[in-house]
Order: sequence, then structure tokens, then C-alpha cells
Amino acid sequence: MHHPMPERGAPRDEILASLEAFKERDPRYKEGRVWSLVYYLDEEHQGFLKDAYHLFSSENGLNPGAFKSLKKLETEIISATADILHGSDEVCGVVTSGGTESCLMAVKTYRDMARQQRGVKKPEMVIPETAHVAWFKASEYFNVKIRLVPLTRDFTPDLKKLRRMINRNTVMILGSAPEYPHGTIDPIAEMGEIARRKKIPLHVDACVGGFILPFMEMNGESLPPWDYRVPGVTSISADIHKYGYAAKGASTITYRNLDYLRYQMFVYEDWPGGVFASSALLGTRPGGGYAAAWGALQYFGKEGYRKLAADTLEAVNRLKAGVQAIPGLALIGEPRGPLFSYRSTDPELNIYAVGDQMDARGWQVNRNQSPPGLHAMVTAQHLAVVEDYLADLAAAVAAVRADPELAKQGGAATYGMMAHVPLRGMVKKKILEMYAEQYRAGGAELDIAAGSEEGIGGGKPGLLDRVVHWYVERQSRRQG
Ligand SMILES: Cc1ncc(COP(=O)(O)O)c(C=O)c1O
Repeated sequence: MHHPMPERGAPRDEILASLEAFKERDPRYKEGRVWSLVYYLDEEHQGFLKDAYHLFSSENGLNPGAFKSLKKLETEIISATADILHGSDEVCGVVTSGGTESCLMAVKTYRDMARQQRGVKKPEMVIPETAHVAWFKASEYFNVKIRLVPLTRDFTPDLKKLRRMINRNTVMILGSAPEYPHGTIDPIAEMGEIARRKKIPLHVDACVGGFILPFMEMNGESLPPWDYRVPGVTSISADIHKYGYAAKGASTITYRNLDYLRYQMFVYEDWPGGVFASSALLGTRPGGGYAAAWGALQYFGKEGYRKLAADTLEAVNRLKAGVQAIPGLALIGEPRGPLFSYRSTDPELNIYAVGDQMDARGWQVNRNQSPPGLHAMVTAQHLAVVEDYLADLAAAVAAVRADPELAKQGGAATYGMMAHVPLRGMVKKKILEMYAEQYRAGGAELDIAAGSEEGIGGGKPGLLDRVVHWYVERQSRRQG
């Protein structure tokens, strides 16, 4: 065992110093070097969130009747969310621990609703290829089969195919505003019309967009409709811990009315421990997350969020223009919100090698798989580093052009190989094995580089390296 429980406790200030020190090897998000995972403004705001969190860090939202303060915070958060999403007073919802929980709950809700109302025993959901991984996770967890809608040439879901995938087992349709891989806002109005005609619920995953697109629109940006103004939309997930600049652990799932939400609830009336009811996935629900989220909404208000949205959009627009001005690079699809991705249009320019060069220059840039690309989740904080990023990107491209060998090294080699390993089932099994290995209590120092929120494909490819290595060895054993 590497880290047994200490025999005796240590002084608190020493422990806090250790915690600070552990951060040394972490991504440098305070300098705007990280392009996902973190939504950070400054130490002052962070301190405020910390204080708000701290005030409620022991309080438990499990039972809405116990801590009335927390239920008040939840009701006001849901109400503010419904307001910016153009919902009526009928809109209802729950504060969850994050985007994934919100997405999981929508799948459970619509599965159970279809089971009870239509007797659906083999539930299916129709989701675009670009749906966040949370939806694939929900499919596995809740046994709802995925009908995967391919993209058209413009990187939007093929609506003709979507329509044909709907059958009597369909429990829900999904659209995103925007989707994570390319930042495209799915054609929600058209999807809403299909959903309405077929009488199938439509969930909008606005985990990313929920707390920024409304303010971009208030600032005069013309965006396609995607919220409760679209008649077919029955529910929306929107994260406050992303563009709401709250502390981690705060998202919302709202429904057009209680006729949907009630299928999300769990009740067990015969438990020896008492009658039990629960509104979402968690049992104990951390009050700190509610308090920080409520605090953020009160602090910024519409005015503050509009300013953040304006700064973000300025950064996004300048970045997009800068990327497009570099010969050999192009945006993927038509990103309309705060994030975008780009690819190489020149067979001589390996985009993953460009990513490696950006890493070497101190940026933490995520990789896309299909098409191969680099990804940027832009926040207001990034406005200050736009020029540095673009200068380094131009230098990274020049370095890769000057040395074609770079495409055969490092992450570029790994990602290149990864795409060509034909045995996807084996790859999955191998990744699973290696990923699980990291969770051994007695294990060696973890290969922390291997995991990121966007999966092991983000950032530096520690675990992918090992998978590719395994494959190469396997091939040479077979050939030798
Ligand atoms: C579109 C979308 N949905 C859902 C999620 C999941 O959110 P979380 O990481 O908070 O669980 C994300 C995360 O990036 C996302 O981009």
C-alpha cells in the first residue's frame, strides 16, 4: 500500500500546504492555458464562490423538507434558468451535480414515461453522432438503445435519416446547443417540428450553451432558436458550472411541465428507514454546489453574464478569424457558440503534430477524432491570451511544416495509429483494462496524463500511447 491511512493526524496548515503543492503539475488554467474542463475568471470570483460554497458545505439537499434554505436556492436557480430559456411558469426542474447527471436523468425520465404511457419495452433514443458521451453512458446505464444520426457534409445531423429512425420504440430525440465536438447548434426548430408531429419528446442538451447563448442573443447576436420557444422542446439541460461560472457541481435539468418531470422522481414507500423520495441521481446532495451556483447567478445577473458573453464572443471571433488566416487550417462545421474546432486541409500538415507543438508551448489543447482536429472551449478569460495563442499556433504550424518527422512522433504518432487500429472492440477492452488499473488502491503513482473529462482523447495521450504500444507489439508477435 503506497498511502496507508496516517497513524496520527497532521496540523491543518501543513495539510493545506500539501494540497497546494499537489497542484504544481496541473494544467495552468489561471493563465488561460487550458481550453476545456475549467471555467475560471479570477481569484476574486473564486474566493466568492468558495465562501458561498463553504456556507452550505454541510447542508444536504437530499430531503427538500429538511433544509428549506436549500430548497429555496434550488427553486430560485430553476426559476432563473427557466427565465433565460424562455420557459413559462409551468417549467419545472432540479439542480443536479453536473451535465452528466442532467443528461442521464432525461434518458431515465423518457424511458419510464414511454414504458408507462405506451408500454415500450425495448426503448430507443435517436441522437446525433455529435451527442456528448454522457448520452452514450446513459444508453449503457439505462438500457436505452441508440439510433445514431449521421452528419451531413455541413456537420449537422441528417434530418431525413433522423426522421426515418423514429419508430414505436423511440422514447426521445436529442439535439444539442451546441454540441461538444464542433460547437454546432443542432437544427432544433426542425427537430422540434419532427418531434411534435411524431409526438416524441425532444431534449436539448444545452449543458454548454445554457448559460451563454441566451446572453449572446440578448447582446444582439442572431442565433437559431433552440430553447422553450421551440414548441417541440420538452426539456433542457443547462450547466451552471460551465458558462454560469459557478463552482464545480452545478447543473440544471428543466422540463416544460410536471407531466414529464414526475417520471424522473424515485419513490420507495416501504423502506425500513422511512418513506423515501428522490428527485435525481444522487442521494446526499451537496448544498455547497447550490449555494455557489445561486451566488454566481445573483452576482452576475443578466448584465454581468452579457458582459462575459460579449468578451467570450470577441475572443471566439478573433480566434476563429486567426485560425482561418493560417494557410492549411480550417474550422470544422459552422460553430455558433463559445467553442469551435479546426482541422488541417493540407495532407502535408498533420493536425495532431500541430497539437503536440501547442502542448510544447504550454497550451492544453484537446484533440478531436473525427475528423482529426483540435478543439477550443473559449471563456471570457481567454480574451487576454488570444494573440499569444494565435502566434503560437502559427509557430506550431511552421514547425510541423519545417519538420515532417514531427508527424511520426509523440501524440501525432499515437493518434495516427489509434485511428487505424481496426479492432475497435479490442481497443475498447484494452482501454478499459488499463483505465481500471489506475484505480487500484495499492497501485503505483497514477498516470494522471491519461484521463481528462473529454475522455482519454484529450490533452496528452498517456493511456492511448500504451494502448497503441500494446497493439504494435501484438502485431509484431503475430508476424514474427
Ligand atoms: C454538450 C455537453 N453535454 C454534457 C456534458 C457533460 O457535462 P459534465 O462534464 O458537467 O458532466 C458536456 C461536457 O462538456 C457537454 O459538452
